[in-house]
Amino acid sequence: MARRGGSIKKFSRVQVLFHWLYSGSWIILALTGIAFLWRGDPTEPAAGLGPLLQGSVGQTLRLVHRVAAIGLMTSPLVWLLGDPKSVWPDLKELFSFGKNDLKYMLIAPLYYTTGRGQLPPQGKFNGGHKVNFYVVFTTYFTFIGSGLVMWFGRGAVSDQAFHTAQLIHSLSFWLGSGLFLLHLYLTAIHPFTRRSLSAMVDGWMELQYARLDHSEWVEREVRSGTAQIRDAERPAAAR
Ligand code: HEM
Repeated sequence: MARRGGSIKKFSRVQVLFHWLYSGSWIILALTGIAFLWRGDPTEPAAGLGPLLQGSVGQTLRLVHRVAAIGLMTSPLVWLLGDPKSVWPDLKELFSFGKNDLKYMLIAPLYYTTGRGQLPPQGKFNGGHKVNFYVVFTTYFTFIGSGLVMWFGRGAVSDQAFHTAQLIHSLSFWLGSGLFLLHLYLTAIHPFTRRSLSAMVDGWMELQYARLDHSEWVEREVRSGTAQIRDAERPAAAR
């Protein structure tokens, strides 16, 4: 995919694959899990979606939810085993939240709604990407922990532990869903940022956009000689 003014390699094919495996499983889990939030009072047969969920529709939703859960739980292995060299540098950058990231988070709401203000220079991931990552990282574990209790713990754990697991699972759902919708809007719809989506399609980002939103990273890559840049006329083979 050649772009105006050239492009810079941001993610490997393995990272792109991991992103879509994770988000694909996540979307299936959200769509199948949401029905159980309205299952109603189990002691009242006509309440909520309860009656529907007791039949074959419920069985199918439960099965698809469990299969997608296995996909979500194992998806990080794709990144860890497929492109291990990129794991540590990217995690190190994601987990370092500096002054510029904080400034970015404070200015971004005004900037993205009115176009006013100036965002500080950002690395490979901006402050918003980092906060999104912290929620994804935390809810990865809260979903798995609480989901496995609901999956295998019925009858084996106390009612209170079971209900706590349900509560943690649904809180993770609401928190994750809010962030997911914002992430979707910014990467696919918002006119300032939607050009970033190409990096998660073939790994390459418009150089002009990267210089705007990730100037620190571009400068660092160019200085160290590790930048993979191709111009629009002569596209290089992607890794
Ligand atoms: C990855 C590990 C996960 C496992 C092992 C898991 C497992 C489960 C299980 C066993 C249930 C109970 C369904 C039933 O009543 O039979 C459940 C409910 C649910 N799941 Fe998941 N799930 C996981 C991830 C997710 C994710 C990523 C989402 C949303 C994005 C999600 C959303 C929900 C919702 C909304 C419910 C209903 C919660 C409630 O009853 O209060 N799950 N899950």
